[in-house]
Amino acid sequence: MPTVADIRSHDDADRPLTFLTAYDAPTAAAVDEAGVDMILVGDSVGNTMLGYDSTLPVTVEEILSHTGAVTRATEDALVIADMPFMSYGADPNDAIETAGRMLKEAGAQAVKHESGPNTIELTKRLVQNGIPVMAHLGLSPQKVNETGDLTRRATESDEADEILELAKAHEAAGAFALLLEHIPANVAKHVTDAIDIPTIGIGAGPKVSGQGLIITDVLGVGDWVPPFAKQYADVQSEMEAGIEAYMEDVKSGSFPAEDHYVQAEIDGWE
Ligand code: KIV
Repeated sequence: MPTVADIRSHDDADRPLTFLTAYDAPTAAAVDEAGVDMILVGDSVGNTMLGYDSTLPVTVEEILSHTGAVTRATEDALVIADMPFMSYGADPNDAIETAGRMLKEAGAQAVKHESGPNTIELTKRLVQNGIPVMAHLGLSPQKVNETGDLTRRATESDEADEILELAKAHEAAGAFALLLEHIPANVAKHVTDAIDIPTIGIGAGPKVSGQGLIITDVLGVGDWVPPFAKQYADVQSEMEAGIEAYMEDVKSGSFPAEDHYVQAEIDGWE
C-alpha cells in the first residue's frame, strides 16, 4: 500500500507512478484492483459526473461524499481529496478545517489544491497539522474566469519561470508531490529535475515521475476527451448499447423471461 512517505521518496529510475481519478465505489475498486498508486477524487467530478459546466460549483460536501465512496472501496491506493473552488483561498483556518474533514470524515490520506503564491503558507500549515498536500500547477481549471480558457499553460518563459518557482516553494513548504497539468513537456522535465518530490504529469509529456489521467477520459465516458488524454475503452457506447437492448427487450416482451421471476403457489393467487 503506497503511503505518502512512499510516494514522496519515489525513485523515478524505478518505474513511473500511476495516478487516476475516481468518484464512486465501483470505479475506485477497479482502479485499486489494477494496482494504481494514487486515486484523486478530483473536482473534475463536477464536469464528468455532476453535469456542471465547470469545476467551480463543486462543493465541499460533494467532494466529501464522493471521497467517502472511493475510500470505502479502496484497499491499497493512496486516496487524495481535491479542495474545491473557494474552500481554501479565502481563510486559512477554514481551509485547514475543511482539509481536516477530508481526512477525518471521508478517509482520504491527503488533499490537493490548485496552487499559487497564496497556497505556499497554507501548505506549510496543513502539513504541520498532519494533512499531507499535493500541489497542482500549470492549467488551473478553478481559475478559468481569470485565464479565460483551459488551454496549455507555460508556453512563455515568464509563466514557466513562475511554475518553477512555485514548484520549489511548495516543495519547501512540505508538499509530498506535485501535479503538473497541460504544460509543455520540456517545462515539466525542467521542473521535475529541479525538485526532489515526484511530479505527476497530466498532459505534461513523458519526463515526469508519473502519469495521471481523468478516469472518464480513460474509459470513454462522456462526449469530449482532452487532446493530451488517451482513451482506452468505449464505456459510453457499451452503456448506450446496454440501455437500448433493455428497451428492445421490454418492448418486445422478452424481458422478463421465465428465469427472471417466480410464481408462488398461494391458494387463491393462481
Ligand atoms: O480535478 C481533477 O480531476 C484534476 C485533474 C487535473 C487530475 O485536478
